[in-house]
Parts: sequence; structure tokens; C-alpha cells
Amino acid sequence: MCGIIGYIGEKNPVEVLINGLKCLEYRGYDSAGIALKEKDEIEVIKSVGKIVNLEEKIKSQEIMESHLGIAHTRWATHGKPTEENAHPHTVGKVTLVHNGIIENAEELREKLKKEGVTFYSETDTEVVAALINKYDKDNPIEAIEKALKEVTGSYALGILFQESEDLYAVRKDSPLIIGLGKNENFIASDIAAIIDYTNKYLLLEEREIAHITKEKVEIIKDKKVIGKEVQTTNLERDAKDKNGYEHYMLKEIMEEPVVLEKTFKPYLENLDNLPDLTDYEEIHVVACGSAMYAGMIGKTLLEEYANTKVEIDVASEYRYKNIIYDRKTLVILISQSGETADTIAAMRKAKENNVDTLAIVNVKTSTIARESDSQIFIEAGPEIAVATTKAYILQVGIMALLAYKTALTKGLVKENEKVLQEAEKLPRLIKEVLDRREEYKKIAKGIYNKEDIFFIGRKIDYATSQEGSLKLKEVSYIHSEAYQAGELKHGTISLIEDGMPVFAIVTDDTIKDKTVSNIEEVKSRGAKTIIISNESWENQKLQIVVPKISPYFQPILIVPTLQLIAYETAKLRGCDIDKPKNLAKSVTVE
Ligand code: F6R
Repeated sequence: MCGIIGYIGEKNPVEVLINGLKCLEYRGYDSAGIALKEKDEIEVIKSVGKIVNLEEKIKSQEIMESHLGIAHTRWATHGKPTEENAHPHTVGKVTLVHNGIIENAEELREKLKKEGVTFYSETDTEVVAALINKYDKDNPIEAIEKALKEVTGSYALGILFQESEDLYAVRKDSPLIIGLGKNENFIASDIAAIIDYTNKYLLLEEREIAHITKEKVEIIKDKKVIGKEVQTTNLERDAKDKNGYEHYMLKEIMEEPVVLEKTFKPYLENLDNLPDLTDYEEIHVVACGSAMYAGMIGKTLLEEYANTKVEIDVASEYRYKNIIYDRKTLVILISQSGETADTIAAMRKAKENNVDTLAIVNVKTSTIARESDSQIFIEAGPEIAVATTKAYILQVGIMALLAYKTALTKGLVKENEKVLQEAEKLPRLIKEVLDRREEYKKIAKGIYNKEDIFFIGRKIDYATSQEGSLKLKEVSYIHSEAYQAGELKHGTISLIEDGMPVFAIVTDDTIKDKTVSNIEEVKSRGAKTIIISNESWENQKLQIVVPKISPYFQPILIVPTLQLIAYETAKLRGCDIDKPKNLAKSVTVE
């Protein structure tokens, strides 16, 4: 979602800011803009669409020489993606960029209009600029404090004041860091934007204000200057690069064997490194999108093999529902970014009810990582492609290990089950699955010009189907739906037509015969079935067979095939694979 970078120092800010914006592109955006400041002049340049459009616009005009600037990529929320709505926004002596949503923007807009302010955009951001401008009487910090007292909602702001030579920043419920350099400093919504210049940074906490010059950073909280620990990231510069792959999505899928080995290592050495779920009477799993589907696999495994009941919900529902916390409950939050607004709200709801929270999270500095009671880090490294792939595999892997440990603790593991030995084989087996790209290309060729595709499966295979369907629709823009195989005939089967592709996931032996009947039902109505299974099928033309492994880990071998089919299909359709339209990597608004 929207991205922020700001710079003060000796370099040409245009280069730093544009480079930073490019590093934030993966978050998703539909317009971009930049503001440069020198003495008491501020110049703003904005454009709709890709950052190259902004670059061209900058090149086509004479721009001021400066050493201070802010820039932004906007993912439209309030108002269409137009130049007027793009950031930065200027009102009077204040120019700013904003991530987040101001919830009382309309109310404030009306009030400010009555006080004589004219607005030129439909954005909530312009309202904040007007409010800070209203209180700007020579003391920027005071103006920011006063204005933000009147604001409800989420914000990360980078601010320039016409009469100050410095850079200002503040945040609430939207991430922002301060990058530290030599004779230069930065602000950024994501470390990726500044990693080419520094690996040292400060984490700005809720409502803290940063006052930044090229030599110094002061953090102000409740009117006092406070000390802050300097953080160092081990994110490597080349982790951002594609390592020769055509797309980040492909690179990240291909990293799955390596990251899985790294993530599993401490737990395969000692399962005690994982929390004990049997301490709780009730488990809730809460997440969004693919992370929620990873949770569904965890729920199925915990219920099926560890006799442990699990409630699961998408975070956007959970946060507003009447949840009855009358038993000792653990809320497990799954999030790659750790910044998904709904998942953060669900976590805070659990905490307000004094319920323990466990985060399965990738980004260690994220809000969810910092605010949850305990964490399991999935160690995926940076995930740049908007569609999650390697992080999803690791989320499933951790849920599988938690289910296994719970079954073990409850004495439910059969003596002949060699689950951990199976887990050790996984990296090699995923690699085997990934190496069969020609098979996936062939399937993609058969489906890329279709308009509707179904995925069916039962129990754990249904959970896997949902991820397969989501991945396909988000990167290839083909409409697709996942159904419980037995549910199709209650309405949806009327959509099945001659030649319509139906992927059937069949790995669960206990229910295979039932799924076979459902496959026959769609076949007899003309569907072209593609079976993804852990055993080979006679008389079935289109099939992908992955190695059979413990049921705890079987989805980890099935999903990469679906990811690669989605990837190859999107490629054949000429889609913008790493940045699908309308999507954002980190969904920081509700
Ligand atoms: C789909 C995808 C999304 C995310 C969801 C949650 O490929 O990436 O569905 O899984 O937005 O994001 P995180 O895990 O960052 O909370």
C-alpha cells in the first residue's frame, strides 16, 4: 500500500527519493509524487501511474536544487488516482505525504471550510495538511501535536514546513522508520526504501514526532525529547534484486526449499522451541487472505490429528464480532508483513480482553511482531512480489509443526509415524516439485484463455484449493473459485460448461473415494479436470503427481505447483505479475 520516503542531506534528493519509491513499488500504488524544498520554496511534482511517468515529468522541467525532500506512492482510498489526489499535498505553509486513513476527515473538512480553507483534492491527507497549517505559528512540533489531537484514524506523515529547513515525521497505526546516515538522514515506510544508503534506523513508535536535520534526529514524545535504540537491519541489498529471475514471484517461489530449511531448523532440533498449545482451552486463528488460508490448513491439522478445536476467522470480521472469551484462549495471528491493519486490530482486541496472543510473522520490526505477547518468526526474508508465496509455505510449515507438537504432547502420535524425519526431507522434495516447470507451463497453456476456473477438494485439500484459486485469480485475473468438492452440486455445478477447467486436489486418503465421485460429476458435465495428487491416476490425461509425505506436510508439496501454474498462466496473459492491478503488498488500511 502507499509508500513514503524522505531525505535530508548532501546528496541530490531527487535521485534518493526516486530510487526509494522504486523500492516501494512492490507495495502497490496508482500515482506518485515528490516535493523538494530549498530556502522557503517548496516545489511539488506529481503524476498518475507508474514511477517512470513521474521521472519523465521531472526530467522534462527545470527543477530546483535542494537537499531536502519527501516523496510518496499512493494507493487510492479517498478519491480516484488523479494528479490532484496524489501526494504530496500542500496547504498554506505545510506540505506533507501520508500513509493511512483519517477517519474523521469529512467532519474536519467541513469545519476547516467554514474557517475559510479551500480544498483542491478529495483526499483525507489534504485535511491533515490544512489542520497542521492552521496551528503552524513558528513551532512545527507544537503545530503537529495540536493538529493530531483532533485527528482520528491511522497515519504516517512526512512533513515539510515552509519556514523550517528540517524534516518532520510522526506516526500512529501505520509504520514509519527514521534511517540514519552520515550527514544525511531519511524517513521511510519500509526499510527497503533506504537500504541502498544505510542499514541503521530508529523505529518511530505511536504518536512520537521526529525532528530531523542532516546531522541529528530528535524524537519527541509528550513534549519531551526521548532516547531511542539504534536498530540495524541484516536485510541484504541484493535481497531486493531478482537474482536473474524474470520476476520476484518466481524468485521467491524458487527460494522455498532454502527458507523452509532455515525456518524449520530450530524446531526440528528441539520442538520445545515451539509454544505449547495444550496450555489453552481454546485456540483462535486470525489472519487475512493467504495467511488465513495457511491458518485453515493449521486448523484442519490441529483438529484432525491433535484433537484440538480451532476457531478461525478473517481479521476484518473478527475485529468487529462479539467474541466470547470465557475460556483460557490463545489468539494466533498469522501475517507476513505484520502490518495488516485488520490483523493488528484483531490482535489489539484480544489484548484488551487480556487474552494471550501469538504472532506467526515474517517482518521482525513490524507492529504485530512488537505488540504480540509471543512470536514465531518465519524467516522468509523480504517478500517483494505482491502475491505471497514463500511466506505462505512457511506459515503452513509452522502451523503443521504446532499441530504435530500438540498431537505429541497429547500422546496422539502413533509409534510408526516418523513425522520429523519426513520434515527433514521437505526442502529436497519441494525442490523436486519446483524443478518440473515444463509440466506447469503445459497446464498453463491449457487454461490461460479461459474465463472461469474451479478448484475442488475436501478437508485439507479444500484449504489448499482456496490458496490455489486465490493465487490464480490475483496474478492472472482469471475468475476462479474454490469449492468443497461435495458442495458443488448444491448450486455451483450449474456453472460447469464444456471445457471448463476444474482443478481437483486429492491427497487425503480418508476421503479420496468421495472426491473421486465429485470429479466424475463435473467430468460428466464437460469439465476438463486437472488432478493434483500424491499418487498417479489411471486414465487421467492432465495430472500432476507430487511425492507422498506425512499428511502434516502434504500441502507444502502441493501449493508450489499451484503457485507455478498461476505464475505461468499470468505470464502467458501478459499480466504485471509482481504488481497485480488494484493490489497492495501490505494492506495497512481496513
Ligand atoms: C495473497 C496475499 C494476501 C496476504 C494478505 C495478508 O497472495 O498476499 O492475501 O496474504 O493480505 O497479508 P499479511 O500476511 O502481510 O498480513
